Amino acid sequence: MSDIEERLEELERLGLSRRLRLISGPQGPTVLLDGRPVLLLCSNNYLGLADHPRVRQAAAEAAMRWGVGAGASRLVSGTMTIHRRLEERLAAFERSEACLLFGSGYLANVGVIDALAGAGDTIFSDELNHASIIDGCRLSRAEVVVYRHADMEHLDWSLRRHGGRRDDRGGKLIVTDSVFSMDGEVAPLEDIVELAHMHGARTVVDEAHATGALGPDGRGAIAEAGLEGEVDVLVGTLGKALGSYGAYVCADAEMVRYLINTARPLIFSTAPPPPAVAGALAALEILCERPHRVERLRSNARVLRRSLAGEGFRVQEDGMHIVPLIVGDERVAMNLCQGAIERGVFAQAIRPPTVAGGTSRLRLTAMASHTPEELRMAARVLGDVAHAMGLDPAEIGPPPIERRAADEEPSLPDAEPFFPEVEPSTAELALELTTAEVSAGRERLASAARSRPRSPMPFDAELPDDASSDRAAASRDRATALSEQSMPAEPATANAPFDFERETAAVPRAA
Ligand SMILES: Cc1ncc(COP(=O)(O)O)c(C=O)c1O
Repeated sequence: MSDIEERLEELERLGLSRRLRLISGPQGPTVLLDGRPVLLLCSNNYLGLADHPRVRQAAAEAAMRWGVGAGASRLVSGTMTIHRRLEERLAAFERSEACLLFGSGYLANVGVIDALAGAGDTIFSDELNHASIIDGCRLSRAEVVVYRHADMEHLDWSLRRHGGRRDDRGGKLIVTDSVFSMDGEVAPLEDIVELAHMHGARTVVDEAHATGALGPDGRGAIAEAGLEGEVDVLVGTLGKALGSYGAYVCADAEMVRYLINTARPLIFSTAPPPPAVAGALAALEILCERPHRVERLRSNARVLRRSLAGEGFRVQEDGMHIVPLIVGDERVAMNLCQGAIERGVFAQAIRPPTVAGGTSRLRLTAMASHTPEELRMAARVLGDVAHAMGLDPAEIGPPPIERRAADEEPSLPDAEPFFPEVEPSTAELALELTTAEVSAGRERLASAARSRPRSPMPFDAELPDDASSDRAAASRDRATALSEQSMPAEPATANAPFDFERETAAVPRAA
């Protein structure tokens, strides 16, 4: 047996083995999972923009105009106009002097942290920070002090212990998620910034799960706390609420110039592809024009939380759109996940190393594009599955509970599907579902959706607020029927996501 096989077996034995699940269709409120229609309750497509017709259209147009790839690092083959335009819009959105795109949030965190701290410096990092922050700390070769989650006394104590004069800026860096990705809690940013000022530390705040979800018009937790301009580096992602792929950093112009010169993932990696950049730009425009999507996400988060609390889960009724159902044991989390899938709800189990051992959980995420009824149904399903497994919902939710002994592991109940049964597809094992399978599955999904009770005003942010529910329902059905193979038919011109006229001026060919 090879050492790789041994390691894989060990992961299996520990209940930590992972596999890629095949889903078909965009990241909408419902997807086909291994050929079966399920409610998607674990996507970061928080505002429903990843599959928005205008965003798709913008990405498609950008591919036609600028091509699919950026060709090289921007320091090698040049910044494309579409990169510059998104950076300008993001800087304006974040009320920041300057902005710099990165390939992904992971790369942005690694690059920024490594650029701002090195051997001889100290990084202070919340114990629940995202893996990309942890990896950035490791790569930097700075001393890393992990402070207890959101514990400002511990942070203060740690900063004091590491000395340094008030004017000793640069030697100390505080890094935190603003909304913690696996827990949905908001960091005490005001206190962090105050401590940073007191101790002469720089601050990096990762707004990956706050942009589009928190703050005035979805501008994030920094704006919500009234701290715009007070944080040294804001990291935001394009792959979550903004529905695309990539990331950005907002800071003052000097800092951005410094990062252009020092952030290795920017220097040594290909720039974000034009379709992803244009898609994010269109998504940002929609967010600015229609901030009620953010309201819808918040009200859906409330519905989900209240419904879970109504089922007896230990979940606070007020809080963010990320809701952890912490069960503790890895296998119990997997069984709960599987039981929910078999009843039509997909909420991925999250296990170590993503979360600490003994705190495995389902990480639920509300999206603006869910209907309240879908979220209530999901809570009922989760409550039913928990009961059927012999779990007490009152013991499930934050904070972490004691690890359950392996021999107490509850068994899975017989599945009682929420959606009408779908024939298991042979394509489960294939890399791609065929077009016919996708259409058949989607048709079943659409008819299941039609037969379900509808909320009076299904989500369609592009409709005027007083639009009739019939129009909204029709639009929703149309959205459900879209497949990844067929781009929406609406003409691009009316909703052109950026100034197409200016961009289409003929570029003279080099001789
Ligand atoms: C807090 C946080 N930061 C950064 C990232 C990485 O972002 P990206 O997916 O764009 O690499 C994630 C991803 O989940 C995250 O949760």
